[in-house]
Amino acid sequence: MKKLYVKTYGCQMNVYDSARMAELMAPEGYEETASPEGADLILLNTCHIREKAAEKLFSDLGRLSPAPARKAAAGERAIVAVTGCVAQAEGAEILRRSKSVDIVVGPQSYHRLPGLVEAALRGERNVETEFPAESKFDHLPRPRARSVSAFLSVQEGCDKFCSFCVVPYTRGAEFSRPAADVLDEAIRLVDQGARELTLLGQNVNAYHGAAPRGGEWRLGRLIRELAKIPGLLRLRYTTSHPTDMDEDLMAAHGEEEKLMPLLHLPVQSGSDRVLMEMNRRHTSSDYRRIVERLIRARADIAFSSDFIVGFPGESDADFACTLDLVRELGFAQAYSFKYSPRPGTPAALRQDQVPEKVEDERLARLQGLIAEQLRRFNQGFVGRTLPVLFEKPGRHQGQLAGRSPWLQPVHATAPSALLGRVAELEVAGLTSNSLAGILVRDFGGGPSL
Ligand code: 5AD
Ligand code: SF4
Repeated sequence: MKKLYVKTYGCQMNVYDSARMAELMAPEGYEETASPEGADLILLNTCHIREKAAEKLFSDLGRLSPAPARKAAAGERAIVAVTGCVAQAEGAEILRRSKSVDIVVGPQSYHRLPGLVEAALRGERNVETEFPAESKFDHLPRPRARSVSAFLSVQEGCDKFCSFCVVPYTRGAEFSRPAADVLDEAIRLVDQGARELTLLGQNVNAYHGAAPRGGEWRLGRLIRELAKIPGLLRLRYTTSHPTDMDEDLMAAHGEEEKLMPLLHLPVQSGSDRVLMEMNRRHTSSDYRRIVERLIRARADIAFSSDFIVGFPGESDADFACTLDLVRELGFAQAYSFKYSPRPGTPAALRQDQVPEKVEDERLARLQGLIAEQLRRFNQGFVGRTLPVLFEKPGRHQGQLAGRSPWLQPVHATAPSALLGRVAELEVAGLTSNSLAGILVRDFGGGPSL
């Protein structure tokens, strides 16, 4: 067997894509390995969303280069491929700057990887960053479930053009997979042992895939159909845009028990002026109304969000609106980032960039508030019982690790027969980043894995 080393940067979509690329290379005789040393094929699946992504890639390429060089010294060949959003954004520039790279392939073209690797073995260096007319999904092998909780990509790309974001440029226009393909893939993943599916898309709730018997399904309908799959215990979806939260999807949160009560719904800012300049197409009150509507549908729903601090022109008053929104809504989880100017996006051209020192202060205040809310959220579970889906062995002998409905990591002493099952646990205490549980009862939930 030849060895494949994959390094994944960034979002869950990249995690999914990396797994699919590994599956694509398996019939070609490549088996995954945990180290670049001795690898015959090195894949760097990159992310371009923030920071100096290209610089990071080049420094990683520099660090990795001794491995292919040692292989070459032994008279063997190691192919290096750069995939993902930096590949899409930088294209041929990567080949120019790094002599060790053989292949540059964008996120919509990676189904061509086997052919590109073959060409690289003949000495060719290729760049594939066109958005091809055909869908890569029609060319990928059927996926394998690697774990109890699996990702399923249903939508890609984005037509929203938030003024700070590169995704519409790197991932291209919005595209939804046909519902029948998604259902097939879901059934297969469940057959292979997946008990939880997370539907992925850059703008997942903009999903509008072809329905099996004509017409279109939006995400709410897709979730209702997926929820019928026997053996599937939990469903999640990420990432959503507030303006695409339609009535049916919100209602599904109240009606579909399998749909988990934690929703990642990025708001980015609490200031209406900033939201407008970000081209988010919603106000902070629109966001509050969506949250209220979802709470009416399902009282125990909790929210997770993304925030950007230091968007160009963001004043102290604007930032105060963000803090107010966070205090008022109380998030169970949130990710906050300093604004990072992305080449080619409208906001990067603005003259009123916020000084880094101000950004740092705002980020620290926001993260402090969010961490406090997260602590309070977790604290609220101590003494309560929770259904936990066990996903893998825990760190200590005799322990299993799983997730609560709100994605909190939970560990407990439990028999391995409970892997892939939901059990009821009492939360005995908190550790730094997980809940310590005591097994109360096994709910069943299908054959053990
Ligand atoms: N700068 C900082 N954060 C950004 N994000 C997207 N683009 C940028 C940028 N240019 C954040 C947003 C988005 C998350 C995935 O990354 O908060 O929701
Ligand atoms: Fe980027 Fe999300 Fe805005 Fe699309 S909706 S442009 S992916 S931040």
